[in-house]
Amino acid sequence: MENTQLIQNAEILEKELSWVKLLINDCLTQHFKHDNIVPKSPIVAPDFGDISAPYAQFIQKHQLNTTERIILGMALMPHIKASDLDFLFHKNELTDRPFTQFGGIQGKNHAGFLPTIATVLYILCGEDIPKRIATLRYFQADQFLFREHILVLGDIPPNEPMTSSALQISEEYLNYFITGQPFNPRYSSSFPASLITTQLEWEELVLDPLTLDEVTSISDWLKHQDLIMEEWKLGRFLKRGFRALFYGPPGTGKTLTATLLGKINQLDVYRVDLSQIVSKYIGETEKNLARIFDMAEGRDWILFFDEADALFGERTANRSSNDRHANQEIAYLLQRIEDFPGLIILATNLKGNIDEAFSRRFQAMIKFNIPDAQQRLQLWQNSLTEQLPLAEDVNLTQLAQDYELAGGSIINVIRFVALQLARRTEQTHIYQQDILEGIRREIRKNGSMISQG
Ligand SMILES: Nc1ncnc2c1ncn2[C@@H]1O[C@H](COP(=O)(O)OP(=O)(O)OP(=O)(O)O)[C@@H](O)[C@H]1O
Ligand SMILES: [Mg+2]
Repeated sequence: MENTQLIQNAEILEKELSWVKLLINDCLTQHFKHDNIVPKSPIVAPDFGDISAPYAQFIQKHQLNTTERIILGMALMPHIKASDLDFLFHKNELTDRPFTQFGGIQGKNHAGFLPTIATVLYILCGEDIPKRIATLRYFQADQFLFREHILVLGDIPPNEPMTSSALQISEEYLNYFITGQPFNPRYSSSFPASLITTQLEWEELVLDPLTLDEVTSISDWLKHQDLIMEEWKLGRFLKRGFRALFYGPPGTGKTLTATLLGKINQLDVYRVDLSQIVSKYIGETEKNLARIFDMAEGRDWILFFDEADALFGERTANRSSNDRHANQEIAYLLQRIEDFPGLIILATNLKGNIDEAFSRRFQAMIKFNIPDAQQRLQLWQNSLTEQLPLAEDVNLTQLAQDYELAGGSIINVIRFVALQLARRTEQTHIYQQDILEGIRREIRKNGSMISQG
């Protein structure tokens, strides 16, 4: 967002929060005044017309009603204008404790008041019980703000009322409302997924016709899913989402294809390394996975689960509590995969031991093969750029015919020859010998990898 737009957006936020503050003040005045209050003109929500600032746009696009705007505004307040909530700390002189009606909790680092459902209910409805009960429905999981994971409710200790749950705004929406920038979370132990991108284009993908056709059908689904599910009303029969399994030897383009599917459909692709998850974060896994799925749902991401073999094969017999944990996590993951409304791609090198129950969950099982000689030639030609000076003796057709290498290996060989060339002081060409040496190394590496596994 440009600077002027940033300022305009900040002004919009300020207006919105000032309006919420007026409502809070009004509620407090009524609370502390015991004599009859002269009815005042109602406090109306600001009208943002067709202002293009992200926050104003968001409110219009989703047609948030006044109650939703107040809930959202209250959740934003601690982040943007925390001191406006300070009066809610007011102590009840009778009990020498904060007023129960005001709800709210105290943060660990944050010095200010953190609003809970109770706070919002009091501001919206005071002590009016029927109104309070009616308003409670706004906090249910199927309501817009929660369904879209814009807000989440904080945990509450057992046996405490649900209204003591703190209103939290998700990191990505907070970021979006403030900066207008889509939020791209970074890989961390609590968010074990990363955005994958490629500079390659769809046209550079070299696949056999059958694989390409199957992959293209995924892209077609992304393009036409709304037509199929909504307009043709097939959503009543078909499960939402699309689950595909990519299987085949290393370096055959599984990751690249997933990335390109995102690129041509303008969707972000997030890669989750399952081997990391299932072993490393035992215990925390469900929570972390839930975060990834929640974000992905709200933002139309493609989820790419790499090294998915961890999911297949026999569930380990419950030998230790760790096994039990891992099994539970796998069960949770399978459930979320099945319920996910968008595109999920799982990739693996093996296919042998995927049981039938599992295969039924996929709309596509796509095999990635080692390229044939003609495809290998294309891969060599595509990746040896014009900037790389090839000596006359280089015979790519011969290399493509003689060596059964996957695209990933060809790239490794090219990296090797490019480095050789860069290190030379005099010669300015790549020779057939260089490439052959690169291929030898690649084969040695893969050979030793195979014997290890
Ligand atoms: N079919 C292909 N078409 C074009 N380039 C390819 C193809 N396969 C591999 N490559 C090249 O090799 C690189 C590595 O391939 P990629 O990571 O997609 O393989 P993979 O099948 O995911 O391997 P792994 O099973 O080891 O994860 C790609 O970024 C691309 O440069
Ligand atoms: Mg891969």
